[in-house]
Amino acid sequence: MRKRSLLLSPRIAFRALLCFALFFILIGTAWLWHRAPQRLASISMPTSYEPPRPVAHPIDYLMKKAYGTYRTLLEKQTTNLPSATAAYRSRRGRHPPPGFDRWFQYAKEHDAVIVEEFFDQIYHDLNPFWGVHAKQIRQQAKHFSQVISVRNGNVSVKTDKDRVWMNLWSDLITNIQEWLPDVDVPINVMDESRVIVPWEDINQYIKTEQSSRTLIPLKEVVTQFTGLKQLDDDPGTLTEISWIDEGRFWDTARVGCSPDSPSRNMSAVTDFKGPPPDISGFPEGSFEGYVANWTSTKDPCLQPDLQEIHGTFVEPVSQATTHSLIPIFGGSKLSMNNDILIPPAMYWTNNSFYSGGEEHGGDWESKKTMVVWRGGATGGRNKEENWTRFQRHRFVSMMNGTAVQQAELNITGPGQGPNFSLQSYTTYHLTATRYTDLGTWLQQIADVGMMHLVCFPATGNLMCPYTDPYFELKDTMTMLQQYAYKFVPDIDGNSFSGRYRGFLRSTSLPIKATIYSEWHNSRLIPWLHFVPMENSFVDVYGILDYFIGTGVNFKTKNGTELTEGAHDEEAKTIAMAGKDWAAKVLRREDMLIYVMRLLMEYARVSDDQREKLGFVEDLKE
Ligand SMILES: *[C@@H]1O[C@H](CO)[C@@H](O)[C@H](O)[C@H]1NC(C)=O
Ligand SMILES: *[C@@H]1O[C@H](CO)[C@@H](O)[C@H](O)[C@H]1NC(C)=O
Ligand SMILES: *[C@@H]1O[C@H](CO)[C@@H](O)[C@H](O)[C@H]1NC(C)=O
Ligand SMILES: *[C@@H]1O[C@H](CO)[C@@H](O)[C@H](O)[C@H]1NC(C)=O
Ligand SMILES: *[C@@H]1O[C@H](CO)[C@@H](O)[C@H](O)[C@H]1NC(C)=O
Ligand SMILES: *[C@@H]1O[C@H](CO)[C@@H](O)[C@H](O)[C@H]1NC(C)=O
Ligand SMILES: *[C@@H]1O[C@H](CO)[C@@H](O)[C@H](O)[C@H]1NC(C)=O
Ligand SMILES: *[C@@H]1O[C@H](CO)[C@@H](O)[C@H](O)[C@H]1NC(C)=O
Ligand SMILES: *[C@@H]1O[C@H](CO)[C@@H](O)[C@H](O)[C@H]1NC(C)=O
Repeated sequence: MRKRSLLLSPRIAFRALLCFALFFILIGTAWLWHRAPQRLASISMPTSYEPPRPVAHPIDYLMKKAYGTYRTLLEKQTTNLPSATAAYRSRRGRHPPPGFDRWFQYAKEHDAVIVEEFFDQIYHDLNPFWGVHAKQIRQQAKHFSQVISVRNGNVSVKTDKDRVWMNLWSDLITNIQEWLPDVDVPINVMDESRVIVPWEDINQYIKTEQSSRTLIPLKEVVTQFTGLKQLDDDPGTLTEISWIDEGRFWDTARVGCSPDSPSRNMSAVTDFKGPPPDISGFPEGSFEGYVANWTSTKDPCLQPDLQEIHGTFVEPVSQATTHSLIPIFGGSKLSMNNDILIPPAMYWTNNSFYSGGEEHGGDWESKKTMVVWRGGATGGRNKEENWTRFQRHRFVSMMNGTAVQQAELNITGPGQGPNFSLQSYTTYHLTATRYTDLGTWLQQIADVGMMHLVCFPATGNLMCPYTDPYFELKDTMTMLQQYAYKFVPDIDGNSFSGRYRGFLRSTSLPIKATIYSEWHNSRLIPWLHFVPMENSFVDVYGILDYFIGTGVNFKTKNGTELTEGAHDEEAKTIAMAGKDWAAKVLRREDMLIYVMRLLMEYARVSDDQREKLGFVEDLKE
């Protein structure tokens, strides 16, 4: 696993260098802060941002840095059509798609915060399609088994049977139908993502896109989409798509990684018995043990050890992956996937099981200073031989004071819990463990448990013979009940977790571990709007120690009451900043605005005239 160099002198030299670099970065940031213009004050900043004490902990530093990132992003906000089209042309290297003025007006009328970077995911997802024929995209889309179509501003749905997600997504698109060009939107109804094109092919497609990228002369610009009448009259024949539905998913997936990435040549692990390999020291690329680059933390191409610790790679519930570039829209994907992201259906639902409804929880001060998590033992098809490698099982065990105590007593082996390894936490210098054992502390601050032990083969009830000894089923808690706790970790299930948007909008603090990307990627800043966590959870005790310290009502071994080491104000700051920000950029309106922009671009790249289509009204006299 990831180990730091054991050579001491270069390490010390490196630290000294880091300190120097840090010093200058901090001075630089402070100076920039000072100079930051005030004109963006119309967007409310997180209040009381200045940490109440000098930067002393790595998390203090990461929070400060996150705030700098946010200021830089907000400076790019566009407030009128000319500035929006200019930002578009400069970032995308093309004219905006036809209808851009109406899109902008819609966004403006709905009080959207408009920053061109917020739409980066759209271009990441669609750019490869410039490398395949437009006609091929149209035909593949039309023939897919689940499709939401728009014709003349009217939505229609093709599906094999009634499906909740199809209903939700078609409701979403119906809300903006009159603004949309004709499109066929093929929908992935599975939890798992579907398209993984070998890296070399994607690289070629992206090169094609880059070479076609130009601001064509005004007189050559075509301003009307061709429309899909011709396709409807002559839909062509269905090209068979080959789906890979067996074998090790890791081997199917890693071909999407770049040849120089650590995962590309790493063949699939086959033995999943026992707990995952130990992690010693801080995770590579972290800042003193805490997530410093969220993009690389989540990326399976850069984190080969994810194949041993995440259900997606141990054994997904279902697999149907294609290596060809075909358009498929869905709610989440891995870094090596080429699916096209839309806001997940579960973010559109009004069902308060996922959203918490319009209630976001009470005041911070009224909450319990504790961690809460409830969920099913999903993550993939866990089996007797490999369930210890599933993220939810591991997380629940690591938050279970009793299990952790057993690990500390070396009951099943050195540092081994019944079915997990206690990862080195001494490097994190916890406060509470100076006075008591880790397990006792966790018993006081965590209320974490499974509601359903999802079993393969299925048992027909909530139990599971091979995991029963290690987990106790806890009562269901609604989202709103969970908001009565300050800390709400969010852990991947079979793919992304549908609770995330609700957690962000709540007055509680989301602590997020995931390997999945979502539509909102470039809108959310780690350590400002949420707390990022490693997928090994090696940092979880450090994170909780920073925010909670010993916790309230904490007793040392000799019975003395003590409260030490908490950063409650910082926890509240991130919880509130996330909530305020979600109320500005993750609204239902923002999902509509994102999808409207996405489908305009998708209509363009599917159009035979795509090289010429554009919006240029703003450049004319
Ligand atoms: C949408 O369909 C309805 C009913 O079929 C029709 O009356 C209406 O004109 C259509 N709208 C457009 C914009 O074509
Ligand atoms: C992976 O294998 C290819 C072909 O054998 C080789 O060119 C490449 O350097 C290898 N990459 C790594 C990271 O080892
Ligand atoms: C879980 O731990 C028990 C001992 O406590 C061991 O017998 C069993 O093999 C372990 N299961 C896995 C999947 O590692
Ligand atoms: C994060 O890591 C990725 C992948 O290594 C890299 O491309 C990116 O520049 C890094 N971001 C920052 C802010 O360092
Ligand atoms: C998980 O365990 C089952 C049962 O032994 C096995 O069939 C499956 O292949 C395992 N998963 C992987 C990825 O090895
Ligand atoms: C959800 O509620 C909103 C606002 O109350 C409403 O406009 C929308 O149609 C509802 N959506 C669904 C899918 O029921
Ligand atoms: C458990 O094992 C670790 C490492 O082998 C050792 O440092 C520790 O003292 C042991 N704890 C107990 C209670 O035996
Ligand atoms: C905590 O761990 C112990 C020991 O493995 C187990 O008996 C208990 O059911 C676990 N509790 C929960 C809530 O999973
Ligand atoms: C109890 O433990 C605390 C913390 O270790 C220590 O400061 C205190 O002196 C102890 N009190 C007694 C009565 O031993």
